[in-house]
Amino acid sequence: MIIGIPKTTEAGEHRVSLTPDVVARLTKEGHEVVVQSGAGTAAGFVDEAYEGSGASIGDAARAWSADVVCSVSFPSEEGASHLKRGAVVLGMLQPLDEPGRFPALASTGVTSIAFEAVPRTTRAQSMDVLSSQATVAGYQAVLMAADRLDKFFPMLTTAAGTIAPSKVLVLGAGVAGLMAIATARRLGAIVSAFDVRAEAAEQVQSLGARFVSVEMEQQDSSATGGYAKEVAEETQAKILAGLAKPVAEADVVISTAQIPGRPAPLLITRQMVESMRPGAIIIDLAAPTGGNCELTRADESIVHSNVTIEGPTNLPSMAAGDASRMFGRNALALMKLFLTEEGLNIDFDDDIIEGSVITHGGAVVHPRVKALLDGGGN
Ligand code: NAI
Repeated sequence: MIIGIPKTTEAGEHRVSLTPDVVARLTKEGHEVVVQSGAGTAAGFVDEAYEGSGASIGDAARAWSADVVCSVSFPSEEGASHLKRGAVVLGMLQPLDEPGRFPALASTGVTSIAFEAVPRTTRAQSMDVLSSQATVAGYQAVLMAADRLDKFFPMLTTAAGTIAPSKVLVLGAGVAGLMAIATARRLGAIVSAFDVRAEAAEQVQSLGARFVSVEMEQQDSSATGGYAKEVAEETQAKILAGLAKPVAEADVVISTAQIPGRPAPLLITRQMVESMRPGAIIIDLAAPTGGNCELTRADESIVHSNVTIEGPTNLPSMAAGDASRMFGRNALALMKLFLTEEGLNIDFDDDIIEGSVITHGGAVVHPRVKALLDGGGN
């Protein structure tokens, strides 16, 4: 099979879908890999490194017309124009956020596989791009906060007196949140965290942080694939009331709360921002889906009553080398499900394939994307 690695054209995107170590494994198995010239340069992987792994370097047309195209994000207009009928395209395709792009992709006759739709099961863990990239985002969010804050994170005892440690509050203790907690702890901050899922409390505490308990019924997410559900209005009011004091006392808030396919839950109101000390910082990872803070604007830095609110939408790209390494290993694990010695085998009896294929045979086949296109919600 020919596997293509196109160069991402989106502004601010530095990641590449497959790194030379992964390419070496594919070429060893007898596959031909075509890398668009310069595809990995921004992530630190030059064309020569790919050639050393047995790949050939080509132009955009060659990379996009492969049998399997591994892309970071949705195909560009130019990329889509080169796609071959019957090929497989995989990437972070945002099926629930941008369903309207899929009918046109379906008409090219490709099988598209979205990493976001890979079920979060034990077998699929090695293919979980959302988790690997959220890990990078959680880490980068803390570094961004530490860089912008007017304070040290750790407590310091110096000849110039004792400096109190920073207080970091993490909202949403999923993949990004737990990584943010661990990173802030390593830098010496005092960390607390909140989540609506009951299971999160123990995980937060095991990382040496305090769990903020709010008087409400905690969710059991074991029946919902580890994901939280939207909360009722009454519970939402209790959450906002319970978070008022911890937010007011924090030097840094890292917010990561999300429910897949829904707007981000509101956890920090304007009034709560106004209660924070001058110089405090909010890093809102949920910015791509509207933000957990009322004042967040995607990819902007807002200053409101001397509090800075950052809404970065592509933190993984800030550590593009390791983010790409993790992305590539996830992609390889997923490709192994349909790359066989005889060719491509899209087996809908496999729950991971069934869950993650969005278009196939000229049509949109993913039930939730179809429902969104039919105006039925998800
Ligand atoms: P996740 O699903 O593992 O974690 C989200 C957490 O939010 C869950 O633990 C969930 O229980 C919790 N949550 C849901 N509703 C809540 C509420 N009302 N109050 C408190 N907690 C609540 O998701 P993951 O992978 O950690 O991603 C987190 C966010 O970061 C997502 O919005 C994702 O899109 C975003 N992200 C942002 C990036 C960026 O560069 N800005 C990069 C990668 C991810």
